Amino acid sequence: MCGIVGYIGDRSNVLNVLMDGLRRLEYRGYDSAGVAGIVNGEIDVYKEPGKVANLDQLVHIENDVVFQKVGIAHTRWATHGPPNQMNAHPHFDQDKEFCAVHNGIIENYATLKNQLQKKGHIFHTQTDSEVIPVLVKEFYDGDLFSAVTAALRQIVGTYGIALVSKHEPNKIIVARKGSPIVIGVGTDETVIASDVAAVVKHTNNVIYLDDGDVAEVSVDNIEIRNLDAVPVSRKVDKVDWDIASAEKGGFEHFMLKEIYEQPDSIKNAIRGRLNFEQGTAILSGLNMTPGELTEIERVIITACGTSMHAGMVAEYYFEDLAHILTDVDQAAEFRYRNPIVNNKCLVIPISQSGETADTLAALREAHMKGAKVSGLVNAVGSTIAREAGRGVYLHAGPEISVASTKAFTCQVTVLLMMALKFARSHRMPMPVGKTIANEIQKIPDYVQQVIERSGEIEKIAKKWCKCHDWFFIGRSYLYPTALEGALKLKEISYLHAEGYNAAELKHGPIALLTEDVPVVALANDIDGKDKVLSNMQECKARKAPLIATATEGDQEVADLTDDIIWIPKCHPLVSPVPTAVALQLLSYYVAKELGCSIDQPRNLAKSVTVE
Ligand code: M6R
Repeated sequence: MCGIVGYIGDRSNVLNVLMDGLRRLEYRGYDSAGVAGIVNGEIDVYKEPGKVANLDQLVHIENDVVFQKVGIAHTRWATHGPPNQMNAHPHFDQDKEFCAVHNGIIENYATLKNQLQKKGHIFHTQTDSEVIPVLVKEFYDGDLFSAVTAALRQIVGTYGIALVSKHEPNKIIVARKGSPIVIGVGTDETVIASDVAAVVKHTNNVIYLDDGDVAEVSVDNIEIRNLDAVPVSRKVDKVDWDIASAEKGGFEHFMLKEIYEQPDSIKNAIRGRLNFEQGTAILSGLNMTPGELTEIERVIITACGTSMHAGMVAEYYFEDLAHILTDVDQAAEFRYRNPIVNNKCLVIPISQSGETADTLAALREAHMKGAKVSGLVNAVGSTIAREAGRGVYLHAGPEISVASTKAFTCQVTVLLMMALKFARSHRMPMPVGKTIANEIQKIPDYVQQVIERSGEIEKIAKKWCKCHDWFFIGRSYLYPTALEGALKLKEISYLHAEGYNAAELKHGPIALLTEDVPVVALANDIDGKDKVLSNMQECKARKAPLIATATEGDQEVADLTDDIIWIPKCHPLVSPVPTAVALQLLSYYVAKELGCSIDQPRNLAKSVTVE
């Protein structure tokens, strides 16, 4: 969704820092972009609909813009008003004294706008965000910080903002409520952003603002206060990845790079977390004694999209291994349906970005209802990670492509370790635990073997990519994997794909099968495989082309299908991981063949920070 970058310091190329930051935020999804800086004491603003490249053309080729010392920039994902030049950020008051970029939604903007118009202020855009600089102008009385806090006190809704003024050109004011702001602390310079990806090129030392924080940032000083101007202290954290992790490194797309990274990212997720002697997992972030673990009577996993699919795999893990009643709630449902939760319940919000609005709200609801909460998050320092209070990081490294890949496989792997830990403190005998721990250790190798089959998968993708409708079917652990396979295909190739439990097909969807509708059947060697084979026969009888994933060498499946993707022989519990990788590759090559914008699919945002 929207992205913010700001810079203050002594560099002569402020604009380049801003443009580079915007490019690093492109992956979040956006539809227009803009920059503003102070030139000879006046605010200068440039904005364009479409890609950052359009803005680049405007500022560098058409206008040869130079900003001195300070600037702010934005990528907008339209909510209020269409994505055009006027509605793009930065926004400013009618006299261009104050200029702001905003992420989030101002719910009472219509009322505020109306009041301000009555006082003679003129508005130019259809956005909610424009009220911010206008409110600041209304309150300005020689002290920018006070004017901003007075303005923010009027606002109902969420915001991450950066604001500059021609009256106090040596500072940027940033503030946060519900939309992240990170301050990168350099030497004699500060880079602010909504996402560390735009900061790590310049510094690894960062301050994450908390909700309610307002910071006044100058070249050599950062002062953070709350909305009542009371000073607050925030620690400086270290980002543990560098700029190379956020670049393509020779791959054509981030998605492919991230698929290929999975053997390593899973190794990182596992590292130091398996106890082979005891056949259990060590997850210190969970911060629960074996006694506390046995007190948990119910697990609720709450998440959206791909993270929810990982949670659905884990539902099987927790129930099969630890015999704990487990439910998966789509996070938006959890927050609104008044779920029955108590202190014997462990709620696990799962999120790659750690910023998904619905998942964050579900987490807050769980806290409010007295549940124990433990987050499973990739982005270190993100809001969900911090608000969960305790939890486990994925350590998958930054995921840039909108289509989530390595986060899913790491989530499933870590959730399996969590279930193992619970199971061992409940009833699972040590030898069983040892077998599972050993299998988890082998996951990176299984994934590597699938990646080595990329060429074969690419051929299958080329053969079927012209088909407009697809089904993905599976059972047991591979049912959520089928849902994930369908989600991957639809989001990056824009083909219509549906994921179903293989058993469900005959209850309606089978009516859609024809010789132009491929069915991807997950027919690996796990419990229920024979049933999946029967379901595949049913599809074949309706002339649907069959593509299957199957355990290496399984001739029975091979005989039934048009095309087959071999998955290495592995324990059924871990099979969702290599199978998901095969489906990621299938989607990737279909989308590539169709010439789609793989890393930034239309209409999508990497982190969904609105409801
Ligand atoms: O950052 P999160 O894991 O909370 O994101 C949840 C979904 O928005 C995300 O998984 C989305 O479905 C991806 N685009 C799927 O590839």
